[in-house]
Amino acid sequence: MKVVIVGCGAIADRWARVLTADPRVEVAAVVDPDLDRAEQLAARRCPAAVPATSLRQACTAVEAKLVANLTPPQTHAAVSREALAADLHVLTEKPLALRVAEAAELAELARANRRALVVMHNRARDPEFLAFTRQVTAARRGPLAVTADVAVDLPNPGFRRDQPLPVTTDLAVHAFDQVQALVSAAPAQVTATEVPLPFLGAHCGLAAITVAFADGSVLCYRGGYTGRGLATTAVGTWRVDGPDLAARWEPPEQPSSVRTPAYQQCITAMVDTVQAVTAGAAPPWPTLALRSVAMLQATLTAATTGRPADVPPIPRAQP
Ligand SMILES: NC(=O)c1ccc[n+]([C@@H]2O[C@H](COP(=O)([O-])OP(=O)(O)OC[C@H]3O[C@@H](n4cnc5c(N)ncnc54)[C@H](O)[C@@H]3O)[C@@H](O)[C@H]2O)c1
Repeated sequence: MKVVIVGCGAIADRWARVLTADPRVEVAAVVDPDLDRAEQLAARRCPAAVPATSLRQACTAVEAKLVANLTPPQTHAAVSREALAADLHVLTEKPLALRVAEAAELAELARANRRALVVMHNRARDPEFLAFTRQVTAARRGPLAVTADVAVDLPNPGFRRDQPLPVTTDLAVHAFDQVQALVSAAPAQVTATEVPLPFLGAHCGLAAITVAFADGSVLCYRGGYTGRGLATTAVGTWRVDGPDLAARWEPPEQPSSVRTPAYQQCITAMVDTVQAVTAGAAPPWPTLALRSVAMLQATLTAATTGRPADVPPIPRAQP
């Protein structure tokens, strides 16, 4: 299956490494409005790929089956829509979109066209984090109080330098994915602030986000793009209290070479989904991604207005 990588920034290198090692796919074209970046990615990882400045241009050069959407969050919906409208399968970096209406429109388009629309959830699919959440959910008897602390020291911030609310838009969505493994109730209301830290870098800031869930559970998230002093691991530190339950989790200190990285497992699983849909399976409805977009939309509203925001409901798949 020929794949077009759209967006040739920092994360594209990681994707290209995994995709070029997968015998089921061939990276046939690489797209970036900055042609230099596309050419550099091709030269580094996939010399046979055609560099292009738009998806349309790439599709005239190669007969692609799928797109890897690795553009900044604010262009995810437009790029995925263009790819689905061209009858391509879509693997996209998180978040699926910035608003529930856009995300639902994409999911419906994928379903109508019988194309896979699969979102990266590498933190929520982290095997050790999932083992922790299984222990908690097996023991729980009621609502949960959850805190998550995640601070990342990012040497190449890329689009985040010019992104309003970069922590909320780009980083917090991982926690919105992860908390769904602990709390299955619908998220109801969000309060949020994000304070820039320009003295650390144009992309730096600290966000404090509280999500109240329909069953009384609460997530308090403290996230940031910071320096090394505050930095945690990318998966963060999680603490949970419930009736008769207390738990906390940090990733094990184990050299990453011993485990297959979660993002690699995720990309392989995303290609598995495309293969299954190509073989006739119904495209899976992206419930986890939609719920994360709903929390993200409410968080962006709350952080912008300074007032609590209700979480919009997410649509279910139409039969
Ligand atoms: N899952 C993870 O752990 C993880 C980690 C890092 C980044 N990401 C996600 O990956 C995406 C990219 O992040 P990055 O760090 O590589 O950013 P980056 O700024 O380094 O790269 C983004 C690239 O996209 C290009 N671009 C912008 N608009 C485009 C368009 N319309 N069409 C094609 N290319 C376009 C830019 O020119 C740039 O080269 C973001 O959505 C980010 O949230 C995910």
